[in-house]
Amino acid sequence: VSRSARDVQVWWAGLDHAPDLMDEIERERHAALRREFDRRRFAIGSALLRITAGAELGRDPRSIELDRTCPTCGRPHGKPRIGDGGDLEASVSHSGQRVAVALARGAPLGVDVEELATGLDHAALARSVLAGTEHAADIETFLAYWTCKEAVLKATGDGLRVPLTRLTIADPMHGPRLVSWDGRPALANAVALYRLDPGLGYLAALAVLDPAPRAIHQLDAAPLLAAF
Ligand SMILES: CC(C)(COP(=O)(O)OP(=O)(O)OC[C@H]1O[C@@H](n2cnc3c(N)ncnc32)[C@H](O)[C@@H]1OP(=O)(O)O)[C@@H](O)C(=O)NCCC(=O)NCCS
Repeated sequence: VSRSARDVQVWWAGLDHAPDLMDEIERERHAALRREFDRRRFAIGSALLRITAGAELGRDPRSIELDRTCPTCGRPHGKPRIGDGGDLEASVSHSGQRVAVALARGAPLGVDVEELATGLDHAALARSVLAGTEHAADIETFLAYWTCKEAVLKATGDGLRVPLTRLTIADPMHGPRLVSWDGRPALANAVALYRLDPGLGYLAALAVLDPAPRAIHQLDAAPLLAAF
């Protein structure tokens, strides 16, 4: 799919077909998930990551090794790294009926999708998500902030260990930018943010640790998954 090394692929999947391309470690995590819904999303994320990375690297998806070792605790629930993937970087996100896998060369990236859940008390959550200068009048704007911040923290690999309130985002709905990161000032100039189109009822964002604009290609993963 990539026409140039600067292209970024974002693959979107629903939950109807969940091929099993998991390794032993993943199968253990899969079995430990209580809800069938969570198991499906996890299996699809794992399959889609192997299929798309395999296509990019010209290898059989089943031969793609994924290392998700968490730097904090050593358990396999961290940012996925592709074995022998060279400069290929990946990120996975799932929410509701959506699974996203993003791939890029030469720059770490993070993708985050969130379902627009009715009943989410965004005003109450704002305190732990928004920085002092940020304001979300509605739930869409709130989730636009949230997805941008989580995408950045997934790109750096920090995840939610860093409080979301340390990051300040400008124009989260239309032209998101990381304005500042309290404690890591150099990051603001090193990240590019993009809004994605996950479809009605969802918000999603992509962060790439490359300040120069890249071409983002959003693609339907259904035909890829159907082949397995
Ligand atoms: C990463 C994190 C932000 C994901 O949040 P989420 O909105 O619930 O879930 P998403 O579906 O968007 O993302 C999940 C994916 O993020 C990836 N991921 C996990 N930790 C990550 C990290 N530190 N950086 C980047 N990506 C990460 C995984 O690929 C995971 O997919 P998988 O469950 O299929 O393996 C959150 O789980 C987190 O901060 N985890 C690290 C902190 C932690 O759990 N510490 C306690 C134990 S040490």
